[in-house]
Amino acid sequence: MGPARSPSLSERTTTFLSAAQRHLGEELCFAGPIPLECVLPPHFNDPGLVSAKDGRKFVMRLARPNLKNGEDGRVCRELVNLAFFEQGGSYALRSPVEQWRFHDRCRQARLAVPAMVYADANGSLVEFIDGTNVSILLARQRSTGPMHRYLDDIRVNQRAGLILGDRHCCNAIEDRDGRIWQIDADVRIEGPCTRELEICQAIFYSLHALGGSEEGIDVALEFLATAHADYAMRYVKRFLAAFRSFKGSAAYADGKYAAVVPCISRILDRFPTPRKETPRLRR
Ligand SMILES: Nc1ncnc2c1ncn2[C@@H]1O[C@H](COP(=O)(O)OP(=O)(O)O)[C@@H](O)[C@H]1O
Ligand SMILES: [Mg+2]
Repeated sequence: MGPARSPSLSERTTTFLSAAQRHLGEELCFAGPIPLECVLPPHFNDPGLVSAKDGRKFVMRLARPNLKNGEDGRVCRELVNLAFFEQGGSYALRSPVEQWRFHDRCRQARLAVPAMVYADANGSLVEFIDGTNVSILLARQRSTGPMHRYLDDIRVNQRAGLILGDRHCCNAIEDRDGRIWQIDADVRIEGPCTRELEICQAIFYSLHALGGSEEGIDVALEFLATAHADYAMRYVKRFLAAFRSFKGSAAYADGKYAAVVPCISRILDRFPTPRKETPRLRR
């Protein structure tokens, strides 16, 4: 007998959706994978669109059976930079059920995180947010409005005491009213400087989506100038510097982040002194 065959995507979809249907007592219909166009290509959760009889739309995110805590090279190299490890930081994947609890906590704190309606070991079902992910918005429009709102939203989450973990801007959606929703909490980061790491991730990936623009540098500098009360700036500097030497893992195009490296250097050269935070007008 050979090794056990892992279930196919369609088998995993059927198993997960039958359990979700039983839990919700409602008939669900799978409408196919979400058409994704994103600056970072791989999608680890195989997101698919699901509709209920009453017209409600959900996103099914299937847990990859082969993705185990600590074995995901992408998480390690792309998101959690070496300087974070040096400070005693660590990461792990949240199981779908842990994500369900975490989404509930975020929503109790009135944060814009989609409602999770079901999860088990195979995946999770979340409310569909009608909008566009921030990575695509930045790459398409080359306008910095979403970057402002994205950084501000992360700070709001952190002030409520919640650390989402992986702040790649594919993991946030801006809806039609300009509201940012944080949709993906599958990576948990732990350590003394998780806020600082998150904000550095957000700055790094926003600049990448923007193609390394001058305006993006200004947004980052403006944000940091008003953020001295929220972040230990010596760690922000350390983590940004560590992202600068990050070249991308073998799975990605070589030199993919080349445009971001000089932006990070510029931010570090012009690192701002504290300024009072002023309420931002929606732009
Ligand atoms: N609840 C949701 N509502 C709308 N779109 C979503 C939702 N969840 C995910 N998506 C879309 O799918 C993309 C990838 O989803 P995500 O769950 O973060 O998968 P992965 O982390 O595996 O890449 C997101 O960038 C977004 O465009
Ligand atoms: Mg994601």
